[in-house]
Amino acid sequence: MKYTALTLAAKAAAITAALTLSACGAESESAGSGETAAPAAAAPGPAPAAAPTTTPEERGRKLFNECAICHTAKEGDPNRVGPNLFGVVGRSAGKADGFAYSKAFTDADVVWTEENLNSFIENPQAFMRGNRMAYVGQRDAEKRADIIAYLKTLK
Ligand code: HEC
Repeated sequence: MKYTALTLAAKAAAITAALTLSACGAESESAGSGETAAPAAAAPGPAPAAAPTTTPEERGRKLFNECAICHTAKEGDPNRVGPNLFGVVGRSAGKADGFAYSKAFTDADVVWTEENLNSFIENPQAFMRGNRMAYVGQRDAEKRADIIAYLKTLK
């Protein structure tokens, strides 16, 4: 959805630019009659969406809201339904202090590289069968990248 809005915004910007350019070109010919400037003001299409000023980390922090039901992110915060995720990127699976992991986790020989996190977040059960993370998975690759960018800041 966000992607579509951005695409539309980009298109609207391109149209506006094109109209502005043609208006400029025409102006020198018709000595500023004002006629050619009108279409630019009435550019068709939806109002351009606000420019995307957020960083992947900021978007990821928002997306993390759906993880935060089960996971804390700050150093020293308690485990919830899921383990605290401070420092998880680059760490071996199943190492948060005081969390009772499933056998799937304690048996796993997995390091949380960005690649492994990407697969796990996409489909936790497909990546590690029998684990207890009751999360359906994030199928949008861009959102996963944003979430991982945020997880990387937790150190
Ligand atoms: C319904 C609760 C729940 C939700 C929602 C959830 N998780 Fe989890 N997560 C868990 C549990 C429980 C585990 C441990 C699973 C086990 O022991 O089998 C876990 C494990 C993890 C681990 C491995 C941690 C480690 O110490 O090895 C990561 C990384 C993780 N979750 C990331 C996420 C992210 C990112 C999201 C959101 C996109 C998310 N989780 C959503 C419950 C949840």
